[in-house]
Amino acid sequence: MKVLVTGGAGYIGSHTTLELLEAGHEVVCIDNLSNSKVESIKRVEKITGKNVCFYEGDIRDKGILTKIFTEHKIDSVINFAGYKAVGESCQKPLEYYENNIQGLLVLVMTMREFGVKNLVFSSSATVYGNPKSVPITEDFPLSTSNPYGSTKLFIEYMLKDLYKSDNSFNIAILRYFNPIGAHPSGLIGEDPKGIPNNLCPYITQVAVGKRKELGVFGNDYNTHDGTGVRDYIHVVDLSKGHVLAVNKLAENPGLIIVNLGTGVGYSVLDMVKAFEKVTGKPIPYKIMPRRPGDIDECYADPKLAKEVLGFKAEKTLEDMCRDAMNWQTKNPNGYED
Ligand code: NAD
Ligand code: WQD
Repeated sequence: MKVLVTGGAGYIGSHTTLELLEAGHEVVCIDNLSNSKVESIKRVEKITGKNVCFYEGDIRDKGILTKIFTEHKIDSVINFAGYKAVGESCQKPLEYYENNIQGLLVLVMTMREFGVKNLVFSSSATVYGNPKSVPITEDFPLSTSNPYGSTKLFIEYMLKDLYKSDNSFNIAILRYFNPIGAHPSGLIGEDPKGIPNNLCPYITQVAVGKRKELGVFGNDYNTHDGTGVRDYIHVVDLSKGHVLAVNKLAENPGLIIVNLGTGVGYSVLDMVKAFEKVTGKPIPYKIMPRRPGDIDECYADPKLAKEVLGFKAEKTLEDMCRDAMNWQTKNPNGYED
């Protein structure tokens, strides 16, 4: 199949592009490079020995989308393009609504115009807000506490309404938990700009001496050691979940909403220990105040993804830490090198 991957140069997009190529699909990418480098795509081509048809452009630009759908017979679209930093979304809510929601609208309206009706959308466990219990099943109540989360929730509503109005669409809404790690080659990985917002890239930068110590945001949560618990999933497993979703959409399943997680939660201190084990060195850290908006525990019930997509995360926590370190060590400045 020919798959259009928006945001394909980004962290999850580049790994998914790779897995799509390995599974025998053709990939067309569009990315405006606002949070990525085209080098990631070059490396995907190097690893797979296959070509990616790359367009530098913005999904809010109907002109370039029209050009792509005219030049290629696209079977399915995976939409990764969007902004994703929770903290930044509170500073720049309008930019987040404009990029994420307007981008999705222009994309889906152009798809409809060209009769392309298979879409995979990157949602997030953030749509569960502060869950009443764990593990989280897909029927839990949805809520949002920041503009980034609101964009995901609003888009979910929009896609559900679209499906109700036209059930010839096939839509997979994938709610990711916490993607980490990198491709085992160490050639592609997460390349955050400036100080990482997320735990794992921060730890890997501490591990290689780029940052002095990790700040642990709170040790008074209601968890086994007081630090926040999350469901970390290897980005390669997550990417394979997208290949399964694309294959599933070809069977005309209608609307699918599933969690992509492992079903296992680890605390911040569990993660510190896991990285220490992989690197053989201590990870210095200090306990800091809680980060506003953080919750105690968040992990998936992964059963529905197994039933609907045949998805099961295979990689271990050790794989995640080792592959994240391999990427960080080989690319101390990300794709700048
Ligand atoms: P990323 O920033 O690495 O990738 C997003 C890509 O989209 C970037 O390459 C960026 O340049 C591009 N982009 C942004 N706006 C664009 C636009 N208007 N037109 C074209 N390209 C545009 O982020 P990621 O971690 O790979 O996340 C991918 C998607 O998954 C995002 O939608 C994100 O919200 C979602 N998600 C991510 C996580 C996570 O923890 N990484 C968790 C849940 C959901
Ligand atoms: C994990 C744990 C922190 C950094 C975010 C988004 C979510 C989704 C995934 C996109 C928490 C603690 C972190 C640090 C720390 N993204 N932490 N020190 O917050 O679960 O999820 O990314 O959809 O929407 O909110 O991930 O990696 O930021 O934090 O102690 O320097 O690590 O408090 O308990 P989070 P994270």
